[in-house]
Parts: sequence; C-alpha cells; structure tokens
Amino acid sequence: MTHGEGVKITKKRVYKKFKSDFPYNKELTIYKMKLPYVAEMISYDDNKKLIVINNECCMNLAKVPFKDKPKYYKQAKDLYFKFKKDTGFYLYDYRPQNMIVNDKTGVVKLIDFEYYGKQKNIWKSNINFLKKIGVVRKDYSLGSKKIKSTKKYKKRFSKKTLMKSKKNTK
Ligand SMILES: Nc1ncnc2c1ncn2[C@@H]1O[C@H](COP(=O)(O)OP(=O)(O)O)[C@@H](O)[C@H]1O
Ligand SMILES: [Mg+2]
Repeated sequence: MTHGEGVKITKKRVYKKFKSDFPYNKELTIYKMKLPYVAEMISYDDNKKLIVINNECCMNLAKVPFKDKPKYYKQAKDLYFKFKKDTGFYLYDYRPQNMIVNDKTGVVKLIDFEYYGKQKNIWKSNINFLKKIGVVRKDYSLGSKKIKSTKKYKKRFSKKTLMKSKKNTK
C-alpha cells in the first residue's frame, strides 16, 4: 500500500487493509513472528485482507522534532541488522515513516512490511536516510554498483569474450 491509503488509525488500534493477497501475506508473515521490536499485531482477517495492529506510542520518526531525530539513529541502524539476523530478510522500505518512536521510553519499533527480501536492495529514495543511520557508508553510491552489473560490462569482461579477443589478435 502506498501513501497510507487503507490505513485507519484510532486511539488504540491501526487497521491496515490490503487490496491484494501478495502484500497482505508478506506483511502478515512478519507480524506473525512476534518480534519484540515490531509493533504488536492484535488480529487479522484473511477474507477482508485486514491486519489490526496495536497503535504504538507515540509517533513515526519523520514527525519527531528535527533536533531529537539523531537520538534514534543508532537503534534504527541496529534494528535493520537485527531484522536481517532474525528473519533472513533485508528491509527495503526502511525510512523514518516506517518506524515508531516512543519519546518517553526512547524505544523504536518497526512497522510496514510490504517490501523485503533475501537480496540486499538499497532503494534510491532511502539512501540518504540509510547513510545517516549508518546502514550504508557515506560514500556508498548506487551508480558504481550498477555499472559493474550491466550486461555490456559482463560481456566485455567475461572469460569467453577475453579468450575470443586473444584468438582474434593471433
Ligand atoms: N502500529 C502503529 N502504531 C502507530 N502508528 C502507526 C502504526 N502503523 C502505522 N502507523 C502510522 O500510519 C502510517 C502508515 O502506516 P504504514 O503501515 O506505513 O502504511 P503504508 O503502507 O501506507 O505506508 C505510518 O507512517 C505511521 O505514522
Ligand atoms: Mg509506510
């Protein structure tokens, strides 16, 4: 789900309704694991594709006053790697809107699990945040990675091609 459509928030609960099975099941899989640093699921309904989650106090990290945000970066970083260790999955939609900060206790909890997988996958839109919290290095660039994996690059430097060009020069 994008842009919060299908999310209804009451004082105690968050009702998240999905349009299709795939994202519904993806998110449900994580909530069923009952990880201590993930918001608590209260109930779910496969027919309605509805997940009811505890409304975790107090606000998402994007809404935290600017000067207080850095207090939560270490936890945000640690939770990225803890999630990987516990589930085997990398989180892709890892951004301030998808983490709930309790500014009384200082504890961060994760929400929103429609996008994750076994492959490490850094989204361009989240790269600055991931650098800030230390999940990727400050000099990390998507560009350099892309060049290496292009078909042209692979073909040019593959053993076969190099052998061919050797033969041709003989
Ligand atoms: N369990 C929760 N406790 C508190 N706030 C929540 C919770 N779940 C969602 N929210 C709020 O609702 C917003 C949208 O929820 P989210 O699950 O991220 O939906 P979407 O897939 O539309 O991004 C979040 O950014 C957060 O502010
Ligand atoms: Mg979200």
